[in-house]
Amino acid sequence: MVLNSPRGTADIFGNNIEYRDHIIRSAVKLFEVFNYSEIITPAFEHTEVFSRSIGTETDIVSREMYTFTDKKGRSLTLRPEGTAAVVRAVIENKMYAAGATLKLFYIGNMFRYERPQKGRMREFWQLGIEAFGSDNALLDAEVIWMLNLLFKELGFKNLALLVNSLGCNKCRQDFLAEFGKYLEPLAGRLCGDCKNRAEKNPMRIFDCKKEGCAEVLADSPKIISFLCGQCRDHFSRVLEYLEKLGINYKKDESLVRGFDYYTRTIFEIVSEDIKSAQNALGGGGRYDRLVKQFGGPDIPAVGFAVGIDRTMMLMGQLGIKPGGKVKKTRIYLICMEEKYQDYCLEVLKYFRDKNFICDINFSNRNLKSEIKQVGKNEYDFAVIIGEKEVKDRMVTIKDIVAFKQHSVKWDGEKDKILKIIGAGDNE
Ligand code: HAM
Repeated sequence: MVLNSPRGTADIFGNNIEYRDHIIRSAVKLFEVFNYSEIITPAFEHTEVFSRSIGTETDIVSREMYTFTDKKGRSLTLRPEGTAAVVRAVIENKMYAAGATLKLFYIGNMFRYERPQKGRMREFWQLGIEAFGSDNALLDAEVIWMLNLLFKELGFKNLALLVNSLGCNKCRQDFLAEFGKYLEPLAGRLCGDCKNRAEKNPMRIFDCKKEGCAEVLADSPKIISFLCGQCRDHFSRVLEYLEKLGINYKKDESLVRGFDYYTRTIFEIVSEDIKSAQNALGGGGRYDRLVKQFGGPDIPAVGFAVGIDRTMMLMGQLGIKPGGKVKKTRIYLICMEEKYQDYCLEVLKYFRDKNFICDINFSNRNLKSEIKQVGKNEYDFAVIIGEKEVKDRMVTIKDIVAFKQHSVKWDGEKDKILKIIGAGDNE
């Protein structure tokens, strides 16, 4: 029986590694410029870390968590997202300091029991940032700026940056009072889940993908109209900063995002080239109450996460190449008989010490089929070592691209060798 990987998971290799590395390298470079440092948290947490923060009525907590009981009867959950775990870590390790801003980034695999589709997986990778310690609108703008810049630098063009504000507790109470009145006569048209949500957490009705529920919401009041003076000011300032930075945005009054922890600014970046629901490349928002709710100090925070797999997939679909990587010279050493391996090892070590990508045949001694490997694996040079080469302490270098062959002495002619294989390209 052949075993497959579990549904909704994927192996990442070959070209995809190049895309993934490029995305991660571009992001980390950007994060460092904005003064973020890395944090690594465990892949699983106590279930409560997520259920208490994301919200029990959200899709993620109510049906998508990989929750299990360990051998001591503790309820643990594979992280469905990074924010709650980072908040837990910041409090536990007392990483905050009064008056200072703490800026963290992370890269990690996340797990959600979703219905797998193109761009929607059960194990996926995110890179994200979380900034703690300030409710300054400039910090919201900075975080959105980074999200926007990352995709620009990766080469994406048709992107829409959607922004909205969910206000504070007071705004939400005012909105929910009106929303409740609006829903009352229409409740019968909601799906079963949303009837339940209408009772327990009406905001979550905005997450429902069912057509009937979307129709009910079409004329509903929107939270943006219920913002208190301070929240309205905060949102206007965020938008002003974005304008100053030349960042195009679209106000989207229906944007709510699927987590209960958000307050004030929320945002999402979507690709307009893709029409499916999987067009969101990243999203985030402010969560000013979460640290306190976790038992920590009263510290505001804001952050975002980007889906690495989805970004890789869209780059492939849109023909965006992961450029920028300096190509290293690749050398393949063909050792014609096992008894020449001592000499080959000397040559192999030299090239590897010099930082060239260099490999050797470990078994097959057939020159023709080895040369085929060289072409298939995109090597630039083959270095052949047979009886004659060993006897005369020579190497035969085949330049695959220029179709040229050189016989060079190994001792005393290293400069010549480096000239042939283009020293300098390997740094
Ligand atoms: P999120 O919107 O749930 O936010 O996820 C961020 C990104 O992860 C999405 O835009 C998408 O690209 C990717 N993603 C989500 N689910 C999947 C999936 N099933 N398969 C593939 N990719 C997926 C968060 O996770 C928040 N923690 C963001 C945040 C950080 N808010 C504040 N700080």
